[in-house]
Amino acid sequence: MYTTAVIDEIRRQVRQWRANGETVAFVPTMGNLHAGHITLIKEATQRADHVVASIFVNPMQFGKNEDLDAYPRTLAEDQAALTAAGCELLFTPTPDIIYPKGLDAQTYVEVPGISDELCGASRPGHFRGVATIVLKLFNIVQPDVALFGRKDYQQLLVIRTMVEDLSLPLEIIGVETVREASGLAMSSRNGYLTADEKARAAALKAALDALAAQIAAGSTIAAAIAKANTSLMDAGFRPDYLEVRSATTLALPTDADKELVVLGAAYLGKARLIDNLVFSR
Ligand code: PAF
Repeated sequence: MYTTAVIDEIRRQVRQWRANGETVAFVPTMGNLHAGHITLIKEATQRADHVVASIFVNPMQFGKNEDLDAYPRTLAEDQAALTAAGCELLFTPTPDIIYPKGLDAQTYVEVPGISDELCGASRPGHFRGVATIVLKLFNIVQPDVALFGRKDYQQLLVIRTMVEDLSLPLEIIGVETVREASGLAMSSRNGYLTADEKARAAALKAALDALAAQIAAGSTIAAAIAKANTSLMDAGFRPDYLEVRSATTLALPTDADKELVVLGAAYLGKARLIDNLVFSR
């Protein structure tokens, strides 16, 4: 696998592949790769002739008091894992390559509505940062398909909306969440958990499962959410939000909505964990 921080090198290689009539799949990441990312890369090898990944801890999507500096950086291990999974080209820019004018003077992308609630309400500006870097990376790599994990369900819908609204010529593929045996969704932020917290962290998935089962069995959404919040607090979590939404739009569900998603975010020790579950009623 070839690694470069140079935009023109990425463009030159992709142009060459295209000139041969070959297709390109892209997996953007912030590094510290786990089995979830590797599943994205393996899926990408099935979707196109060549796989490009990026590792960039994007300052624009972190709030002032968030974990930008602490975010784990493990480039050598990531390169080995990407190579083994079939990635051919890795883009590793620095912030000054991506944002040479600094964050405040940079043009940005705002996907209205959907970016402002749930994680967007707890992390103002987060999805502006995500949409801006993802569009920039799409413009650099110019892939035919790009793959994202469904653990970041709201992020996936924000990106799909941006692609549709801006008529971007690529396909977005959402890939199923990869979990530990306990049910805990794989996340780079799981590294912030102590062994004891990690054992308790599976309570988030268990709470979402129970909440969906109660609603499917006829419970009101409010009653099911109240129970799930209690079970999370019993496990030592500090819930940020637990919400049931339309699975397609993330709008508050009406009686007509049958495809729902329960989304949760909760703090455990130093980690803010998120998870979701799509279900029918
Ligand atoms: O999901 C992530 O790792 C990031 O939000 C992404 C999509 C790479 C943008 O920085």
